[in-house]
Amino acid sequence: MTTYTFPPTFLWGAATASYQIEGAWNADGKGESTWDRFSHTPGKITNGDTGDTACDHYHRCQADIALMRHIGLKAYRFSTSWPRVLPAGRGTVNQAGLDFYDRLVDRLLAANISPFLTLYHWDLPQALDEKGGWTGREVCYDFADYAALMVKRLGDRVRHWTTFNEPSVVAFDGYLSGQHAPGIQDYKTALQVNHNLLVAHGLAVQAMRGVDPSIQAGIVLNLWPSDPASDSLDDAAAAETNWQRYDTLFLDTLFQAHYPVEFIKNAGGNLPDIHPGDMALMSQELDFVGINYYSRNLVGTQGVINPVPGSEYTEMGWEVHAPGLRRLLNRIHRDYRLPPVYITENGAAFQDAVTPDGKVHDPRRIDYLRQHFIQTRLAMQDGVDVRGYFVWSLLDNWEWARGYAMRFGLYHVDFTDQRRIAKDSAFWYRDLVTTGAVEGGAQPSDPRRFP
Ligand code: FCB
Repeated sequence: MTTYTFPPTFLWGAATASYQIEGAWNADGKGESTWDRFSHTPGKITNGDTGDTACDHYHRCQADIALMRHIGLKAYRFSTSWPRVLPAGRGTVNQAGLDFYDRLVDRLLAANISPFLTLYHWDLPQALDEKGGWTGREVCYDFADYAALMVKRLGDRVRHWTTFNEPSVVAFDGYLSGQHAPGIQDYKTALQVNHNLLVAHGLAVQAMRGVDPSIQAGIVLNLWPSDPASDSLDDAAAAETNWQRYDTLFLDTLFQAHYPVEFIKNAGGNLPDIHPGDMALMSQELDFVGINYYSRNLVGTQGVINPVPGSEYTEMGWEVHAPGLRRLLNRIHRDYRLPPVYITENGAAFQDAVTPDGKVHDPRRIDYLRQHFIQTRLAMQDGVDVRGYFVWSLLDNWEWARGYAMRFGLYHVDFTDQRRIAKDSAFWYRDLVTTGAVEGGAQPSDPRRFP
């Protein structure tokens, strides 16, 4: 048994997102989002669930902050809903919506919890989607205006600003697989959307700094390292190709101002329309980068291997593989000149049940988190500058196309009466936050190593 001690400045957090917890989908002047429209379309979501009420956080914000205090969180990552603030995406401001976030921030600060604000966690104003949404460039300027508006109102209290959560999921799930809003399936469109999101990111960073140059600006990427399935050179090449198509696509553009060669080769005639100056625009100097890590891909010449024999899987069908996080952090630290890193999401969905004693025993989640904290600490010892860690998620919530079927929370939520119950993992995390140290043996690294 080893003890892994974190530095006293380490920021212990938890994360959520507006559409996944707020509910109040049409309250107090909020505009419709693409996710409202999508979830109201029959056949799109498991069990026909909608996010209309979700965790009703909009009305229970104060009580939810008490839950954060109970754990002793030092930071809370949340997103603001663009259509709650700007119902049509641009133009008239909905003061009630803006006031909600103003109160949230004040309450967090009163509880000594640092707000980490994400401007876009997937809920685009429907009105903008109807004008072409992310397929066009106009929306990029709307996004920058929205970003500036938010910094004007909250920048005196919120220091950490994230433009986008996981642009890859917006582009590829929203416009290629069509499993996410707005449900389009077109490769060329997806690549153009991807490009436009990165342009919007650059414009928003500039606009925010125009309002307040002292803010900390960043972006959140979901990275799935590609491990070669064997020692063969062909498998190594296949893994590297996979990594470049889906992951360095963001790292190269944001940190080196170019598209990766593999991506260009693979896109062929579907390459996006790139305006002069775009690459410089999207590679603004950042103050931090957020990494969402859930799993890795094991890749061979036959493609992604799933399931990996002998591996444990979460309810999402994602392999539990904590050593991949350390390897990922080391690789990106080696390959890029990175700003400070936050793990902005990490967590697991398991089938949790409330037992007759009124508790939720979730040893697998505790083990998952323990392993990922250990690997983060090891990466820090390797030299990666990781400043904090946000568990996904504070509450069981709306898991996009999977509706309420997936439970990721430290708190169990009964969606019939909105009762919250601290799972064992919430108590475990509270102890970790208090002591700053995690105990255990590290999950052995897979011999198939990510180079
Ligand atoms: C991430 C999303 C987050 C949540 C987790 C499970 O891709 O950013 O909203 O759904 O996955």
